[in-house]
Amino acid sequence: NLSSQHSVLNEWVREIRDISVQNDRMRFRRNMERIGEISAYEISKLLPYREVTIQTPMGEAPCLELEAQPILATILRAGLPLHEGLLNFFDRADCAFIAAYRKHHRDGSFEIEQNYMTCPDISGRPLIIADPMLATGSSLVLAIETLLENGKPSQIHVVTAIACTVGIEYVKRRFPQVHVWAGDIDDELTAKGYIVPGLGDAGDLSYG
Ligand code: PRP
Repeated sequence: NLSSQHSVLNEWVREIRDISVQNDRMRFRRNMERIGEISAYEISKLLPYREVTIQTPMGEAPCLELEAQPILATILRAGLPLHEGLLNFFDRADCAFIAAYRKHHRDGSFEIEQNYMTCPDISGRPLIIADPMLATGSSLVLAIETLLENGKPSQIHVVTAIACTVGIEYVKRRFPQVHVWAGDIDDELTAKGYIVPGLGDAGDLSYG
């Protein structure tokens, strides 16, 4: 939980939740992007680096280089600003995109419909998946299953703005090796699958 560290990230999490601020769509997207940036920095501390010697105008310097560029995967559409933030920091990454939505039935239940995916070979590379809301976890589990058809990653990270406890537990049960990074974590999930207090619909707040 990135909020537990008490940093400027708490400001952005507060603003994306606050109904008197979140309707400023540009600020909402930018705050999501900033959460993506901070998450990228935190994740970067866990990635492997190799030692290289580079030439400066004045001589040779020992430096570090990422052993492998990550794959940044995003679930449309709400994930886009978060993804952009990750891409700002991992600017040489390759990207994967998944389109998914909740298909509602008459009885009030829903299932996740996934109808588009593009993904490069992820074998041996860190996989970082951005989705601002981790509610039931169904979208994410389905997304990870589909992404893993494209190779075995070296690490899997999930970046989310607001997650709820049951969603994290569901993902962890299915994929124990996954690291979940959350801007904040809420305890309540309604019967309809909405996080409380959450922030509302992240896709609508970003794109209308
Ligand atoms: C939201 C959110 C996640 C999903 C989370 O997407 O962005 O993808 O719901 O719910 P889950 O953990 O219960 O699966 P939504 O279906 O609202 O689509 P959108 O991004 O187009 O707004």
